[in-house]
Amino acid sequence: MRTVYWEDHCLKMIDQRRLPNALEVAACHTHLEAAQAIKDMVVRGAPAIGAAAGFGLALAAQESDSASVRELRNDLQNAAAALRSARPTAVNLAWALNRILKKAAGSEGTADDLRRIVLEEAQRIADEDVEVNKRMAEHGAALIQDGDTVIHHCNTGALATVDWGTALGVIRTAHEQGKRVQVLVDETRPRLQGARLTAWELEQYHIPYEIISDNMAGYFLHAGKAQKVFFGADRVAANGDVANKIGTYMLALAAHDNGVPAYPVVPTSTIDLSLAHGDLIPIEERDPEEVLGLEFHGERVAPEHARARNPAFDVTPHRLITAIVTENGVVHPPFETNLKKVVTA
Ligand code: MRU
Repeated sequence: MRTVYWEDHCLKMIDQRRLPNALEVAACHTHLEAAQAIKDMVVRGAPAIGAAAGFGLALAAQESDSASVRELRNDLQNAAAALRSARPTAVNLAWALNRILKKAAGSEGTADDLRRIVLEEAQRIADEDVEVNKRMAEHGAALIQDGDTVIHHCNTGALATVDWGTALGVIRTAHEQGKRVQVLVDETRPRLQGARLTAWELEQYHIPYEIISDNMAGYFLHAGKAQKVFFGADRVAANGDVANKIGTYMLALAAHDNGVPAYPVVPTSTIDLSLAHGDLIPIEERDPEEVLGLEFHGERVAPEHARARNPAFDVTPHRLITAIVTENGVVHPPFETNLKKVVTA
């Protein structure tokens, strides 16, 4: 089952807020519903967000009653602006919208031809995502030895993409190659993508795992109980700085301090060569209630008037990155030079 797909003239997606307790499918019939689903994290994970945004434009093309190509292109631009503002950090959102708008700008024929072209390109983005993930998984699985314990942060599996996954896709392929790999799953506060989504996926794939709270990773790395660290990315700058789920930076620091290799798994659609370094990457700040709303034995943990901060992502400096796994191969430092080679390949 794909995480994001087009069916019955609408965008459908697994409602990730309901997992692991319920596997439900949500449907979006308008581009504004698609933008809201991205904002509310019904769908999340950079590649899945990109695919959903692409289908969001296809909804906009369908919603528009413009008979002229020029007017329809204008409607698509307006819809893209609404989708673009859903979440700022994952570059796949803008990447997918720009790719489809470029295709739309060069289209020939009628407005209905353009509607078809927009949907076809959105479908192509979704199909390519699966193929790209499987190629990355082959490259990345070679980095995992039989018997390795891997620390994984957030969720980067089929749920964070259209299918197969990025970093979790690498672990899945290594497992399918017969390697005995164990996963320490960072729970990933505050939305618990690790404890809820990654654990659920690993159950499906029969891959052994144990959940840890994010602040335990340093202990296992220092104790020599983890041999590799794998995570995803929401945006990679030209110098190799990696923006990913909050907590990745601290995990990479602990890995580096203990000589344990750290590998982000990144489709080239997530590499943003227009940004020279990571401090230029916009970091989403989400509702503090995601932090404060935690309950302990059914009771709210935080005092009534407590305040909280909730940056959803952080940036891991390239000096802490061992190599970057892409669909076009494993990229080693200097990233400034070598990333360009895989993006244009
Ligand atoms: O806030 P989320 O759940 O969308 O954050 C997701 C991540 O940080 C993932 O690691 C990243 O998007 C890569 S998903 C293949």
